[in-house]
Amino acid sequence: MRDFAPAITRVPVDLAGRSYDIAIGRGLLQELGPRLRDLRPGAAAAVITDAQVARHHLAAAVASLEAAGIRHVGITVPAGEGSKSFARFEQACDAVLAARIGRSDVIVALGGGVIGDLAGFVAAVVRRGLDFIQVPTTLLAQVDSSVGGKTGINSPRGKNLIGAFHQPILVLADTGLLDTLPEREFRAGYAEVAKYGLINDARFFAWLEEHWQEVFSGGPAREQAIAVCCRSKAAIVARDERETGDRQLLNLGHTFGHALEAAAGFSERLLHGEAIAIGMVLAFAFSARLGLADPGDTERVRRHLAAVGLPTAVAQIPGDLPGVDGLMELIAQDKKVKRDKLTFILTRGIGASFIAPDVDPAEVRAFLAETVAKG
Ligand code: NAD
Ligand code: GLY
Repeated sequence: MRDFAPAITRVPVDLAGRSYDIAIGRGLLQELGPRLRDLRPGAAAAVITDAQVARHHLAAAVASLEAAGIRHVGITVPAGEGSKSFARFEQACDAVLAARIGRSDVIVALGGGVIGDLAGFVAAVVRRGLDFIQVPTTLLAQVDSSVGGKTGINSPRGKNLIGAFHQPILVLADTGLLDTLPEREFRAGYAEVAKYGLINDARFFAWLEEHWQEVFSGGPAREQAIAVCCRSKAAIVARDERETGDRQLLNLGHTFGHALEAAAGFSERLLHGEAIAIGMVLAFAFSARLGLADPGDTERVRRHLAAVGLPTAVAQIPGDLPGVDGLMELIAQDKKVKRDKLTFILTRGIGASFIAPDVDPAEVRAFLAETVAKG
């Protein structure tokens, strides 16, 4: 067995026969080749990435594979959510087959959540399932999307509607790759970091309030924060891989957030993480309105997210948005509706979120009418 550098944090994801490690540390991309060779000796690799990530990091990934003597092919799709489409999926599958990637070879997803979801889905279905390694390159992907095995693409009828659960065999989170990430993307990913504190870890949220600047500047606090998030997600996924229970907690802020993202056309107007920041503030404010949480907690969450530069109110979204009826329509299209009741992640306070399966849509409408009117 090889020795790896000591500054690496290892977080196991315990899923019986499909368990894997998340490795977190600066400079880890150079370990891609040796780790792949150790896990699957003799395997070739298809590296799926996007054009922007390729510009910054594909050469280093390829160099690591070459140094380990691994046959490889690079498959590059355009950057952005548009690549989670049937057309790009078909192209990527075809490129994998054309490169004679076989059952015992490996797909490498080098990119953010878009690439992880697309490449993971390719891995789930080509030749009825190939192994894959996640090399997440955005903060959002390092703390959330690369872990847990949700893969997929969008349908013209909605986001993430076509996909599969398919766990990676390794997540290699090189925190140094985040140095090239545009600041707006880093901030958007930070909303998901804060989410872990708000779900079930009040101490972590308090730590973030104190140390967020160090997380942004790239010191050891960044690795520490990513490791806390990965441990939290690994524990939730180990308890509830298929999201029949606890995993739903990860959707804090997502019911309001997805509706706002859809209302803004899944565009640059509002990145996913920005929508989640507003959605989490709304989830706290809604919980306070229902008498479940102290309004002071809503203000504390809002203050922290605003301090890092995230939007926290619907009025901050540029351009026109639908009114309350339009937003309710978008919320009703969400998968979290059962027998005319809405499932929301509500909260009793910071670190005390819970699944509320029977929220009355009339309450949501009244809350939105107040909130959207107030701006
Ligand atoms: P993304 O993958 O589109 O990346 C954002 C932008 O940053 C892209 O333009 C990309 O090219 C660029 N980029 C990525 N890494 C870079 C780097 N190191 N340097 C410079 N530029 C870089 O977006 P994202 O926010 O990472 O992911 C969003 C997607 O993740 C959505 O499709 C969402 O549905 C999905 N998601 C999936 C899960 C899951 O569990 N599978 C969870 C959360 C979100
Ligand atoms: N990002 C939500 C989940 O993985 O379940």
